[in-house]
Amino acid sequence: MNLTEKLALATLHRLDPETAHRLSIMALKSGFTPAPGPVTSPRLRTHLAGLDLPNPVGLAAGFDKNGEVLGPLSRAGFGFIEVGAVTPRPQPGNPKPRLFRLTEDHAAINRFGFNNEGMEAMARRLAHRPKDAVIGLNLGANKDSDNRAQDFSQVLAHCGEWLDFATINVSSPNTEKLRDLQGKDALGALLAGVLETRKALSRPIPVFLKIAPDLANDELQDIADVARESGIDAVIATNTTLSRDGLSSAHRDQAGGLSGAPLFEKSTRVLARLSQLTNGQIPLIGVGGIGSAKQAYAKICAGASAVQFYTAMVYGGLSLAAEIAQGLDALLARDGFESVADAVGSKREDWL
Ligand code: FNR
Repeated sequence: MNLTEKLALATLHRLDPETAHRLSIMALKSGFTPAPGPVTSPRLRTHLAGLDLPNPVGLAAGFDKNGEVLGPLSRAGFGFIEVGAVTPRPQPGNPKPRLFRLTEDHAAINRFGFNNEGMEAMARRLAHRPKDAVIGLNLGANKDSDNRAQDFSQVLAHCGEWLDFATINVSSPNTEKLRDLQGKDALGALLAGVLETRKALSRPIPVFLKIAPDLANDELQDIADVARESGIDAVIATNTTLSRDGLSSAHRDQAGGLSGAPLFEKSTRVLARLSQLTNGQIPLIGVGGIGSAKQAYAKICAGASAVQFYTAMVYGGLSLAAEIAQGLDALLARDGFESVADAVGSKREDWL
């Protein structure tokens, strides 16, 4: 992180977190942000579920909920970008305040509740997306929908033409009963519906499933079974947690999903268990608490073919994307791996 970025972050941290986030989006729009361009090497290049990624370090969903800064994000060093969540109709989300910084814990709690401008606004922006980036969309369901499963399909049908991948998000803790869709029967039907919708797209993009970190072993087993049977292309593990273990910040008891450093261990254990349950047959994307190249590497060694992060940027800035990708390259080289794929799952046992 350079001095300008340090000063910018210090200023942002004096503001309430949602205002600070809005300002970061505006700064990106104005071009006042790091833009190292593509970070890649033969070792970092990753083939994931039919996608060719310049590096395996992605931006997690929730940062650019409305696809406002696709261009600047595509030049920030990420190997792939996930925007959204987007629901069929626009919705305001939960009352403010709904985003909290837990500075001492290097974490955040959010209870946004899928605030977004809806799929039509997203599709209009995606139509002008940069062509040389890998961009996916996090699909969500409206809070007041009477058929949430159908909402995911509707967003995919409307935006799919401009996407490289889509993610079914049934793991946000901030929409009541959404996570019930992770149950075996509901999930099987939901995935079948979305995959049927995909058939109608002019390009059959890969569809991922994003899961919560708060699942018991038998629930995880069900997810592994359904994922295998449905033909889903990859699983993203994990979303934010409801757990509040080991926190010291003033906001630790706020309701919502916890992300950032305290989520690292829990989400990595879920990732490793899922890797074991699926026998490495389904690509996994590791998310939760990554703030350094070492942690990105640890997720890969635990079973992830690629990784994503978000909250660490609140503390380390956007330049972390390139830093983590470059650091990962060096760590792979240090340990004699010629590719990311060679390292996937190499230390899975350490997390079981
Ligand atoms: C999120 N996350 C998220 N996930 C998702 O699938 N859809 C979403 O709309 C959002 N929105 C969202 C908003 C905010 C403010 C945060 C902090 C997070 C979850 C995110 O993608 C990721 O899974 C978790 O935050 C864990 O990763 P990090 O943040 O610890 O790297």
